[in-house]
Amino acid sequence: MAAPRQKTKTERTARGKRPAAPGLSAKPDVASMIRVDHAGEYGAVRIYEGQLAVLSGRPGSERAVAAIKRMSDQEQRHLAKFDALVNERRVRPTALEPVWRLAGFTLGAVTALLGEKAAMTCTAAVEEVIDEHYASQLDHLRHDPALRETIEDFRKDEIAHRNEALAHGAADAPGSRMMSEAIKAGCRLAIKLSERI
Ligand SMILES: [Fe+2]
Ligand SMILES: [Fe+2]
Repeated sequence: MAAPRQKTKTERTARGKRPAAPGLSAKPDVASMIRVDHAGEYGAVRIYEGQLAVLSGRPGSERAVAAIKRMSDQEQRHLAKFDALVNERRVRPTALEPVWRLAGFTLGAVTALLGEKAAMTCTAAVEEVIDEHYASQLDHLRHDPALRETIEDFRKDEIAHRNEALAHGAADAPGSRMMSEAIKAGCRLAIKLSERI
C-alpha cells in the first residue's frame, strides 16, 4: 500500500486560509459590535429624554430628576464616543435609528408617567442587559485594546446607573418584576436586531 502523499505547500496554505464555517468566523465582527453599541447608547439617550420630558419640573421629583440628568449626561458622552467610532472605522450605522428614536423616548416617557420609581425600574432593567451585553463583547475584544478600554469604561457607568436606579426604588414600583422582565426582553431583541440591521 502506498504511503499517503505529502501535501504541497500551496495545499497547506490554502487549507490554512480556508474560511471558517458560517457562524464560526475567526474574528469577531467589530463593525457589528460598534453598530449595536452606537444604537444602544442612542436608545439610552432617548429613554432619559422621555423620562425628563415627563418628570422635569414635577414637584417632589427633584431628586429623581437630578439623578436622571446625571446619568443622561454620561449617556451623551457614550453616544459621542460611538458617533466618533462609527466615523473613524467606517461602520454602517443601524438602519433602525428612527425606530430606536421613537421606542426609546416612548419607553422613557411611559415608565415616567407610571411614576419615578417605575422610571427607575426601566433604567435598572436596561442597564442590567447592557452590562451583560458589554461583558460578552469584552470576552471577544482581546485583539482590539482601544475598543476594549472604551467598553470597560462605559460598562462601569452602566453598572453605576443600575445601582443608582435601585437606590432610587427601582424594585419598589408596583409590578416592577414584570415590567423589568418585559423591558429586558425588549432590550435583548433590540440588541439582536441592531447587530444586523
Ligand atoms: Fe451608556
Ligand atoms: Fe446607562
